[in-house]
Amino acid sequence: MVLVTGNRAGISLVQIWPASGKDLSLNDRLVEGRDCIWITGASSGIGRAVASLLVSRGYRVAASARRRETLEVLAQELANETGEIRVYPIDVTDHDAVAATRTEIESDFGPIGLALLNAGTHREVMARDFSAEDVRALIDLNVMGCVNCLEAVLPEMIARGRGHLALVSSVAGYMGLPTSAGYGATKAGLINMAEALKPECDRLSIKLQLINPGFVKTPLTDRNPFPMPFLMNVDDAARAMVAGLESRRFEVIFPRRLAYILKALRLLPYPLFFALTRRLLPVQRHGQPDG
Ligand SMILES: NC(=O)c1ccc[n+]([C@@H]2O[C@H](COP(=O)([O-])OP(=O)(O)OC[C@H]3O[C@@H](n4cnc5c(N)ncnc54)[C@H](OP(=O)(O)O)[C@@H]3O)[C@@H](O)[C@H]2O)c1
Repeated sequence: MVLVTGNRAGISLVQIWPASGKDLSLNDRLVEGRDCIWITGASSGIGRAVASLLVSRGYRVAASARRRETLEVLAQELANETGEIRVYPIDVTDHDAVAATRTEIESDFGPIGLALLNAGTHREVMARDFSAEDVRALIDLNVMGCVNCLEAVLPEMIARGRGHLALVSSVAGYMGLPTSAGYGATKAGLINMAEALKPECDRLSIKLQLINPGFVKTPLTDRNPFPMPFLMNVDDAARAMVAGLESRRFEVIFPRRLAYILKALRLLPYPLFFALTRRLLPVQRHGQPDG
């Protein structure tokens, strides 16, 4: 398909599909042969559920998170499944450790065919008690953790001329929502980064996907004091994520209803947008007056 664009110099044609000579059509499998799937944040919540599902479907999964014992319990639980899981404990905010772990996985277990960069966390950031330390911690994990992994896996994928990257962001990255001044900013950053890298990755025959979950019941959301519309259970979320990874879609969203509502909200003019998001402010705490 070609897009016709106009500029002062006249009309130019920009080829928008396919982005390169190679068609990224899928095999039946997410990865080829002895390639493995590296999942960060595999000790809990969505990452753990996706790791379990993939191992039960016969894949070889390299599972990473900080808690070794929790990963080893998972590995024991999956010992009789058709696939294989090996644990590679790591703190993704540690740049050098991430690079070393990537080398260890590839020499010990096999080439990383798919990197599911899922490790992340949430903490409230509001105007009251605004803390640079809280925002820095969120950026270090949610953005730089993912960036460290990308730097580690990209050169080998580019050299092999194949690979699959999936960045777990959030629908919270679509717009600024009350209490999410830190988390939302990190997830918006990941969305932007994925969009920026996608055309080049297409050209390099690397499939890059952006995963934007809505609310999924995990230890992360168990801390939320507010009602969570369309809250999904974690096994349904894992199935939706794997179906998305098998698809050709750039953006994988679940539950879809929440994502579509938020995408529509994003299009509203600011006065209307803030009239709605103001209602999401939590009830005043500490007896503080409402500004
Ligand atoms: N649940 C939702 O509703 C929802 C919605 C949108 C997006 N998401 C995103 O989905 C991803 C997973 O969330 P979840 O709900 O499954 O959360 P979770 O249950 O809290 O799991 C987070 C995972 O990240 C790992 N992790 C935390 N810090 C790490 C670090 N420094 N290095 C390596 N691993 C680290 C944790 O393991 P250790 O503690 O062992 O390190 C854990 O395995 C996150 O990126 C989150 O932002 C979740």
